[in-house]
Amino acid sequence: MKILAIVGSRNAEGMTATATKSLLKGAQAAGAEVETVFLPWKNIERCRQCDDSGWGICRTTGNCAIEDDFAHLVNAIRSSDRIVLATPVYFSDLSESMKAFLDRLRRIGMHEKGKDGIEAKVAVAICVAGGGGGGAPQCACIMDRILRTCGFDLVETIPVRRQNLDLKKSLLETTGGWLASS
Ligand SMILES: Cc1cc2nc3c(=O)[nH]c(=O)nc-3n(C[C@H](O)[C@H](O)[C@H](O)COP(=O)(O)O)c2cc1C
Repeated sequence: MKILAIVGSRNAEGMTATATKSLLKGAQAAGAEVETVFLPWKNIERCRQCDDSGWGICRTTGNCAIEDDFAHLVNAIRSSDRIVLATPVYFSDLSESMKAFLDRLRRIGMHEKGKDGIEAKVAVAICVAGGGGGGAPQCACIMDRILRTCGFDLVETIPVRRQNLDLKKSLLETTGGWLASS
């Protein structure tokens, strides 16, 4: 069982990474092999909306025209059994790196070939608000909608805020164990 965590924070010691680590700790204890990718360290351009219609070759080929780290990451999703997507909450929304990645992922999923290895893949989302914390539920709703459009079988979306991060660590760990054994 391989679990890939895709994190939309650049801080490997930050709150989003901490929440992700808790989940992966539970997964590893249940026997999973885990890998974490930090999106801001990758070269992921935003969608170019290639055609005047707003679409692009992704619609007819399932591939994105931009040559950057996107295709490699998509293949990493395809070769993993479970996916964790974790974002810090910015303006009650996804981080820019997570948004750029998922904008393109949902577009390639409009074609059968793009969807291959992603559709129905079990996923868990984590949204970590480190300020007042009020934006976590709204961010979770946005994440939930986008990941379902991408085709994931999203089994849990966990809003976390700075004020309850320590409390939620045990929930995240339990969720990781469940994800690895389900
Ligand atoms: C541009 C920006 C916008 C933010 N907006 C919110 C917000 O709407 N609500 C909130 O609780 N925290 C907000 N924060 C705080 C982040 O949620 C916090 O920095 C983040 O969870 C920390 O994650 P990290 O330690 O993984 O980087 C914002 C931070 C930044 C940089």
